[in-house]
Order: sequence, then structure tokens, then C-alpha cells
Amino acid sequence: MIPTIKWHDSEVWMIDQRKLPNKVQWYVCKRGGEVIAAIRKMVIRGAPAIGIAAGMGLALGANRIRARSYEAFRRQFLILGEKMAAARPTAVNLQWAVERMKNLVESMAECSVDEIKEALRTESEKILEEDIECNKKMGQYGQKLVPKGATVLTHCNAGALATGGYGTALGVIRAAHEKGKDIKVIADETRPWLQGLRLTSFELMQDGIPVSVIADNAAGFLMRKGRIDLVITGADRIAANGDVANKIGTYQVAVLAKANGIPFYVAAPMSTVDIRLKSGDMIPVEERAPEEIYRVGKQRLAPPGLRALNPAFDITPSKYVTAIITEKGIIRPPFRKNLKKFWENSRAPA
Ligand code: MRU
Repeated sequence: MIPTIKWHDSEVWMIDQRKLPNKVQWYVCKRGGEVIAAIRKMVIRGAPAIGIAAGMGLALGANRIRARSYEAFRRQFLILGEKMAAARPTAVNLQWAVERMKNLVESMAECSVDEIKEALRTESEKILEEDIECNKKMGQYGQKLVPKGATVLTHCNAGALATGGYGTALGVIRAAHEKGKDIKVIADETRPWLQGLRLTSFELMQDGIPVSVIADNAAGFLMRKGRIDLVITGADRIAANGDVANKIGTYQVAVLAKANGIPFYVAAPMSTVDIRLKSGDMIPVEERAPEEIYRVGKQRLAPPGLRALNPAFDITPSKYVTAIITEKGIIRPPFRKNLKKFWENSRAPA
């Protein structure tokens, strides 16, 4: 599988996900501002992937800062950091990565600007490597929840393309497949950006994992017919009580899963947990341009003058979540208590 994002000399290269699967094309960023624009425009998307892009984008932007004194450098870096964190509001990974890069700068007041620039690049590479490692661990924990011969429904794309590699929900699916569990995947098409149709199917087909796509409104029917054994999705942010923000449409899938007695699992790294937020009601939900709804591909289908609502994410209350799969293990209800425990452990020195 081609990497989602990488350093290429002094540039950041990312696969342009708007063009997949028809074209596999690199999108080249030479400045921090170009990474911010790429995140906004969905060139790169998926919570962990935009966190990684933010880290690399800040290192890229830092290289262009001409200041020689620490204070002047720090001032300009913080301005860039604020703009980066605001590129998309829902996935907490973006803010998490910006905080991590900011903390590094704050800890290097005694160092030269060149040393800080170097350290920022190394840190961004570390964020990428750690993400892949987390996904592999999540895969190992999560695959235990996938029975032999199971059919798994997933929503959106929580795969290699949404992360540094391997994927969260698709990482669990990959690990189950690697264990020879003979699983099948059903991918919701995921309107309006069609991440399921374009990206999830593309990734799984490359790996030889059997996958079928369905229209978003077909999930309930198939669940009732007994054709789906479990659901696994990713997450953009998880509140302290276990409420989960993920791609619009996840909530209805979770409710349907509960109504049909099907387990609903969420796979996400601990960096997706926002322990500061008591509940999902506090998670900001991105509202995107109505234009995305009027069109299918490049074709506009809506009558002129029609209004559209386009929330990009929804919140699934934790009562619909069977368990959360993380790189630290599987978290089960009661989520408030257990998430806190896992979160504190994940901060403890190794
Ligand atoms: O708008 P997107 O494509 O960035 O939304 C992505 C999702 O909702 C994913 O499910 C989530 O980020 C988890 S990715 C491992």
C-alpha cells in the first residue's frame, strides 16, 4: 500500500484522496499554509491522517520562519499552530498534534532556531511512526472480537488512507484477515464524499479482502436479514463518557445495530479521546458547504435555489457502543470510569 503522507526532501507529499481511486497522484506541499489548505479541501482526511499532516505542516512552516531569536520564532510558530488547529474542527487529533509540536517548541527555549526546526521535523516523523504502530496494536486487540467467517459493516474510511498506515477500523479488519478468519466486509458508500465507495473498497481490494459496497440506506435491511455480524467504525473524537463523533451516518448505523442485536465497535487511538469533554454534546461538529450535497461527483443534480444541510459528522451516544478498541486494549462500559483509567495509563511513563 502506498503511504498516505510522507516527507520528500524538504516537501510534504500526500496522496490526493479526492482523486482516488481513478488517479493515484501526489499533492505536493512546500509551505505550512498549503498543508492547512489541503486539510480543509479534503486532499488528506481521516482523523489520525490530518493529525500527522498537521505535525508535518508545522515542521514545514517552521522551516520558512526567518526569525533568528527564539522569541520571534516562537511567536510566528504559534500563529501558524493556531491556523493549523482550526483547519477542521471535529477530529481532536489535529489539535493533539499541534499541542505536541507546540510543547516541543516551548521545551527548547535554550536551543538555536535551527535545532528547533530539525527537532520539529523529527517529531513529525515520530507522530507518523507511532500512529502506524498504534494501528497494528489495535488490530491485534480488535481482531479477537471478529468471529471466523464474519461479515463486518464499516462506515466511511478508517483505513490506511485515514491514518499513517494500516488503519483503525480497517486495521482490525486487516488483522482478522491476516489471521485467516475468512471475513467479508460491507462498506457503506458514505455520502457525500463517498469515502466507502472510493477509498475503503480500493484499499480492501488491494489487500484481497472481499468487500461489497452498499448505499447508505441499505444497512438496516441487511442487518435485519442477518447478513451483518458486527460493525466496526473509526472515530474523530471520543468524549469522556464514551460518546463518539464520527462521519455523518454513523449514529444511525449504531442505533440500527443495537435494534438488531449486533455489536457496534469503535477503533481509535488514545489520541482520539478528549478527556476534557464530559459528553459528545460538547464536540464541535463541522458543517461543510451545501455544494457537496447538490453534486454527485462533478454533476449537479439539485434544482437551482434548493437549500441543503451538510453536517460532516454526528455523535453516537455511548449507550450504542459495545466497546472501544485502542492500542492499549479494549475498553468496555462503564465508559466514563474505564476511559479515564485507560487515559491515565496511556499518560504514565513507560
Ligand atoms: O471527513 P473525513 O473523511 O475526514 O471523515 C473521516 C471519518 O469520519 C473517519 O471515520 C474517522 O476520521 C476515523 S479515521 C481512522
